[in-house]
Amino acid sequence: MKEKIGIASDHGGFDLKELIKTKLMKTVDCTDYGTNNHDSVDYPVVIGAACKKLLAGEVDRLVILCGTGIGASIIANRFSGVRAALCHDEFTAEMSRRHNNANVLVLGGRILGPDLAERILEKWLHTEFEGGRHERRINSIEEISQNQ
Ligand code: RB5
Repeated sequence: MKEKIGIASDHGGFDLKELIKTKLMKTVDCTDYGTNNHDSVDYPVVIGAACKKLLAGEVDRLVILCGTGIGASIIANRFSGVRAALCHDEFTAEMSRRHNNANVLVLGGRILGPDLAERILEKWLHTEFEGGRHERRINSIEEISQNQ
């Protein structure tokens, strides 16, 4: 069965979202949670809604974008169970999977060129979590953040 990947952006990430979506649709079951044009939209609203779909199990993983990727990261990581990684290169994409089991990839639509963005996506899609001591640390994130 194909992996289910959701994708969402604000207007700042819209162009790159469309390009990434075209790539994703060739290999995975891709659901687009908007936005659907260049009209200005508040990133917490569209990204927050997509994170809720992920946590409800509608998709297995999520790719989110805004202009820099910063606002999208901030709102996504407010959700317990979301591990959103803002990646600017293939190394951070690889490590976000191996060590952090990142279930959300964050990209900056006004930062990345299309070739680099696609390489980051490929690395994130095809790198497995290592588990072991990294599993303990991930569990620790949830424990500590719930007891603050
Ligand atoms: C929108 O102009 C821009 O602020 C947004 O896309 C994002 O970069 C916020 O972090």
